[in-house]
This record gives sequence, C-alpha cells and structure tokens, in this order.
Amino acid sequence: MDKYKFTYQDIHRTVRSLAERVTAAGYETDVIVAIGSGGFIPARMLRTYIDRPILTVGVAYYDKDNKPTKNPRKVQWIEEAERELKGRRILLVDEVDDSRATLEYCVRELMSHGPATIAVAVLHNKLKEKRGAMPKEVALYLAGLDIEDKWVAYPWDAKDIDAHDVAAAADRATGHGAPVVAS
Ligand code: G4P
Ligand code: MG
Repeated sequence: MDKYKFTYQDIHRTVRSLAERVTAAGYETDVIVAIGSGGFIPARMLRTYIDRPILTVGVAYYDKDNKPTKNPRKVQWIEEAERELKGRRILLVDEVDDSRATLEYCVRELMSHGPATIAVAVLHNKLKEKRGAMPKEVALYLAGLDIEDKWVAYPWDAKDIDAHDVAAAADRATGHGAPVVAS
C-alpha cells in the first residue's frame, strides 16, 4: 500500500474519538482554531462534539511571487486575535502532523496573543523525525491515529469520492490500509 486512504466515515469516527479524549483529559475548550485548509473539515466535525466557535488561520509555504519558502508564513490570520484569544483556552486543529513545522509555527503565533492555554488535536500523526517541535506551552497534544510516514489521501481531495471510497474499502479488504496505532 503506497498511501493511506481515509473515508469521511473514518475521519468522523477519528474526530469523535479525539473529542472524547479531549474531554477525558479534562481539557475545557473556549475556542477551536482550525489551520486551513486541511483543518477546516475536521474542525467542523469536532464542533459536533465540542460545541465552541471556530476561528481559522492560514499559513503557506510560498511567497508573494509564488516561490517556495522553507518556513511557513501567515496568509490569513484571525482579525483582532488579541481580543479573541486573550485568556481563552484554545483547541488547535489540523488534519496531519507531518514535519510539525506548521504546527509549531501556529502554536508560537497563537501564544503571542496571550491565551490561557493551548491544546493541539490532529487526525493523523506521522511517526517520523520531525523538523518542528511542539512548544512546551502546549498543555495537551492528541493525535487520532499514529501512522507510518506515507502519504494520506483525504476524502476532500478526491475528485471522485465514490472511487475513493471503493479504493479505501479494497485496501481494507486485503488487510492493507488498516492503520496504525491508536495514539
Ligand atoms: P505540519 O506542521 O502539520 O506537520 O505540516 P507540514 O508543514 O509538514 O505540512 C505541509 C503541508 O503538507 C500541509 O498542507 C499538510 O497538510 C500537507 N501534508 C503533509 N502530509 C500530507 C499527507 O500525507 N496528505 C495530505 N493530503 N497532505 C499532507 P498545507 O500547506 O497546510 O495545505 P492545505 O492542504 O492544508 O491547504
Ligand atoms: Mg494543512
């Protein structure tokens, strides 16, 4: 199996288990912050279980001239972040913890707005050497699943969602594509 293929149903179940673990850890969320665009759909699913407002941020790895950059930069940020985040308990959501560079960057930027605390929840954490580090201010880090360092095909990237689901089911039937380690 060259890639993991997750269906919307898989993602929804993973989100539910993440929400349950956030609650079990006693973490109380005031505001969900979604990192776009991969974190948008997971954050909305999470709100079904943790009913808090969602703010969104966007970062990119290209500059104004569309040239790749090594480090992320903000392309969209919460307006009046200081007012929105000061003293609040943030739950930061993204789909995948890959190099961890984006996550580290976002946590550091959010910390600069003086939240009470910050927790990080990702659907999938790739087990690999990370370029970024989780800042020590992060009160809670949760990954829905720990996975091998392979590409993940998410349902929202599928041009043909039915073919995507069929391929995911076929992987599963052959015993492939079964993830992974509950984190
Ligand atoms: P990290 O801190 O969360 O580990 O993110 P990193 O900077 O390493 O990721 C760079 C981009 O690559 C991110 O997209 C991330 O979502 C995407 N990515 C990494 N691994 C995978 C994968 O296995 N499958 C898919 N589909 N994407 C992956 P981005 O620049 O934030 O763009 P967007 O797609 O979220 O808009
Ligand atoms: Mg992303």
